[in-house]
Parts: sequence; structure tokens; C-alpha cells
Amino acid sequence: MAKIQVAIVGAGPAGLLLSQLLHRAGIECLLLERHTRDYVERRIRAGLLEWTSVELLRDAGVGERMMREGLVHHGVVLAFDGRVHRIDLAGLAGRHMLVYGQTEIQRDLDEAAAGRTVWEAEDVKIHEFETAHPQVTYTRDGVSHTVECDFIAGCDGYHGVCRASVPSGRIREFERIYPFGWLGILADVPPVHDELIYVNHSRGFALCSMRSRTRSRYYVQCPLQDRVEDWPDERVWGELKARLPEQVGARLDTGPSIEKSIAPLRSFVAEPMRFGRLFLAGDAAHIVPPTGAKGLNLAASDVRLLSDALIEYYRDGRETPLEEYSQRALARVWMAARFSWWFTTLMHKFSDDPFAHKLQLAEFEYLTESEAAAKAVAENYTGLPFSQAHPHHP
Ligand code: APR
Ligand code: PHB
Repeated sequence: MAKIQVAIVGAGPAGLLLSQLLHRAGIECLLLERHTRDYVERRIRAGLLEWTSVELLRDAGVGERMMREGLVHHGVVLAFDGRVHRIDLAGLAGRHMLVYGQTEIQRDLDEAAAGRTVWEAEDVKIHEFETAHPQVTYTRDGVSHTVECDFIAGCDGYHGVCRASVPSGRIREFERIYPFGWLGILADVPPVHDELIYVNHSRGFALCSMRSRTRSRYYVQCPLQDRVEDWPDERVWGELKARLPEQVGARLDTGPSIEKSIAPLRSFVAEPMRFGRLFLAGDAAHIVPPTGAKGLNLAASDVRLLSDALIEYYRDGRETPLEEYSQRALARVWMAARFSWWFTTLMHKFSDDPFAHKLQLAEFEYLTESEAAAKAVAENYTGLPFSQAHPHHP
């Protein structure tokens, strides 16, 4: 039977980054992915990195193209019914961010991990993870494989097999579904503004983002039941323009879409994130709504804690960081879950309830007038720092 130190399920950003960090520390890992490399690289996701995520990617040795092509952002703009307010992220939080598409990160990581990823691994199953001898089985080209390992990392996303393999009595799930979706469009037109603009409008939320100086990424809030076919390009551009402040909409460049998709919004957290020798990381353990783009950053935060803990275990034989992984990761997860929920609640149209809208307006007013309020947003949006303190033991 083959033997490996760490078996990783899922080659999204969480699994790939973990495999890369462990590989550089001399730890042998096996990375199993159910889809093809091409399929995984085609998925379009968010593109906004906290600086701690940027640093982790650099530590993993995959930061070269990112630093060359990524766009540094020092601020972000909020618009409410035509009124505009800029939050000075650098001035208020002392941190900036990097705009660099997750698709590009996936490519950079795939390249670094070439030869170490098993693509099209079918029927992946995890076994005996609550014992000292976990195993992973899978099929590739019709041949069954069994691999013995010290640890399993479940980086297989929300629909993966790892969380689903935990007996239901051992896991607690927290969830909130939002009553709308985001329609996203990617187009090779220059971004309407050099910073991101989040818009609260009576027609619904909109977001102006970008991938580069020549490629824009825009979103509009849409009903959950809508299909992409309901949204021909002209309708998307028209709706976006209607929701933007007039002076911004007037300079919007439009063009044919190169990608268009609808995503539902969900908050989800599973606790704990460790079951014996199985560790969950990234979307396998939690989902946040995209408002604020915390998904990838949270995956990076989990991976940082997990890779540090595994490296310490193999180097010094210390198990404490592995034992503390779940608590430490969840403390950060809930902070990001809170912020993503709050930002979603502030910016979207939930119903025609005038009371709810008045509260949103009051909150916007407060952000424009109070430096303390704006600073709280800036701190959370740019990513809370890692605390060095050990978690509290009840
Ligand atoms: N066997 C093997 N691989 C699997 C299985 C399985 N049974 N189930 C899922 N996978 C793979 C998926 O095909 C996918 O490539 O696991 C990977 C999980 O990747 P992501 O869904 O991207 O999750 P994660 O790596 O945690 O990414 C976190 O990136 O994609 C965004 O929204 C996500 O922003 C979040 C961040
Ligand atoms: C994106 O660029 O896709 C993006 C940016 C910021 C968000 C969400 C998505 O809050």
C-alpha cells in the first residue's frame, strides 16, 4: 500500500496552496482532484486579496506574476442612491489590497504543483480518520488505489466528500440563505473607475470590479430564480448603468461578455474543523456571501494555520498547533462571516420594507460622518490581522 504524509482532497485554491506550502517544507503530500485541470482553471471567481493572502502566496513561491500584474488598491467606494463615499483603506486601516483574479492564482498554483496533482481522481473516499492510520481510496483510469497517510486535509469545497464523511452527530452547521443572487459579467472593457464601487440602489445592489486595466468584472443583484438566458448583455449593461451614480454610469464602457453567470448567496459554517486526523479548510468548512470577497481570503487563512501546524508537527513533534487548528481557524471564520453578512445586509435590496431601507441609509450616513465607523469597515474589509495569542481554552 502506498504511504504518504498528508493526503489532500480538492485542488481548488485551498488544496493547491496547502500542497505547495507543505511541499516546500519537505512534507510529502498527495493531491486528489475529481475534475480536469482545464475545468478547474476555467472557473471564474472573485479577485480581491487581503495583504496577508498576498504574503502567503509569496511565501509559497507563487507570487511573481501576481506582484507584476496585480493592482494595488488603497480605497473602496460606496454609493447610495446616487451619493458616493470613498473609504480610505490605507489611511484608516494602514493596509491596502491587491486585485488579482482567482483564476490567475489557480493557474499560478497549478503550474507550481505540476506533476503533484492527480486530476480526474474518481470516487475519492476517506477512511479511519479518527484513528492513527487514516486512508484515502480513489480510482484513476479504472484502477483503484489505496493510500495510507498521517493526516487528511479536506479542501474539497462545499459539495465535497470530506465534510460529508463525518458522522452527523459530530458536526454542527450554521446557515443563512439570502433571497437573491448575483449576476456576474466579465468583459474586455476598461473598468469604469480605478477603485471598486459597491452600490445600494432602489433597483438592487451593483458592484463594479475589475481584473486588469482592460478587463472589467461587474455584478448586479437579481432574483434567485433568474437564468443567465434571462440576461442578454444589453439588459445587464442597462441595469448596471441604471443603478450606478449618474456621473459614473455616464462613462461606463460596454462590450460583449466573455463570461456570465448567476451565483446564489449563502453564509455557512461547520464546526468543528477537525475530526481526529481529518482537517477541513476553505469552502469545505464555510461559505460566505461574496460581498467583500472574503471566500478566498478565508481559505488562505485556514491554509496558513493548517500548514504552520503540520510543519511544526513534522519538525518538532508538537501536536498543540494541530489541536488548536479548529478553534483558531473558526475564530477568524466567524469574524469574516460577520463582516460578509453585515456588508451584504447593508448593500442589498431585501424587500420593499421602507423601515429596512431607512436603516441602511442611516448606517451609510454614519459611515460618511464617523471616522470610527469607517475605520471599522476598513479594518474588516482589508482583513483582520492574525492574533499571536493562543485561543482561549474553556
Ligand atoms: N473528490 C475530489 N475532488 C473534489 C471532490 C471529491 N469528492 N469534491 C470536490 N472536489 C474538488 C472540486 O472539484 C474543487 O476543485 O475540490 C475543489 C474545491 O475547490 P473550491 O470549491 O474552489 O474550494 P476552496 O479551494 O476551498 O476555495 C476557496 O475559492 O473557489 C473559491 O468560493 C471559493 O472563494 C472560495 C475559495
Ligand atoms: C470580484 O472582483 O469578482 C469581486 C470583488 C469584490 C467583491 C466580490 C467580487 O466583494
